[in-house]
Amino acid sequence: MTLKNGRAITVRCKTPDDGEALGEMLASCSERTYYFFHPYPLTRESGLKVAADDSIVCFIAFAEDGTAVGYVWIGREGEMPTLGICVRDSWQEVGVGRALMERMIAEAKNLGKKGIQLTVMKDNARGIALYQSVGFVIDGDAPDPVGPSYHMTLGL
Ligand SMILES: CC(C)(COP(=O)(O)OP(=O)(O)OC[C@H]1O[C@@H](n2cnc3c(N)ncnc32)[C@H](O)[C@@H]1OP(=O)(O)O)[C@@H](O)C(=O)NCCC(=O)NCCS
Repeated sequence: MTLKNGRAITVRCKTPDDGEALGEMLASCSERTYYFFHPYPLTRESGLKVAADDSIVCFIAFAEDGTAVGYVWIGREGEMPTLGICVRDSWQEVGVGRALMERMIAEAKNLGKKGIQLTVMKDNARGIALYQSVGFVIDGDAPDPVGPSYHMTLGL
C-alpha cells in the first residue's frame, strides 16, 4: 500500500527470520517513543525474542528496501488478547499505524476473538486518536507506574 508520504509499505505476518530487522527498528527508536511504548525494551535482543515468540500473532510493516518500519501484535491465546504496537520514529504519522491496526483487527476477527484490549498513556494523543478511529473505547483507567493511562477495548 502507498502511504500519505507517497512511500510504499508491505504488511505481512512475522517469521522467525525477522528478528534482526525488528531489533534494528527497536534499537533506533527515540526516548519519546520508548516513553509511550514501555515496558518493552528497545533492543536487538527484544526484536529477536519477538520474532521467535510463538505465543503472539504479529504483523510487520516493511519499507521497499526491507527496513522494518512498524509492528503490531496480540496474544495468540484468550478471547480478548492484549495488543501492542510501535512505529519507527521517522515513519510515524504517515499511516503505518493505521495500516497495522486494520490488518490486526481483521486477523483477530478471523481468529474468532471476541475483542482486543490495550493500555495507552493519557498523553499519547496520537495513539488514542488512532485507536478510537478504528472503534476502541476508553473503559477506565489502567495502572501504570510511568504515568496516567487508559484501558481501551474493541468489541469484535
Ligand atoms: C501511536 C502510533 C502506533 C500511531 O501510529 P502512526 O503510524 O504514527 O499513526 P497513523 O499515521 O497511522 O495515524 C494516526 C492518526 O492519529 C492522528 N493524529 C496524529 N497526531 C495526532 C495528535 N497529536 N492528536 C490527535 N490525533 C493525531 C492522525 O491524524 C491519524 O489519523 P488520520 O489517519 O485520520 O489522519 C505510533 O505513532 C507510535 O508507534 N508511537 C510511539 C509508540 C506508541 O505510542 N505505541 C503505542 C503505545 S499504546
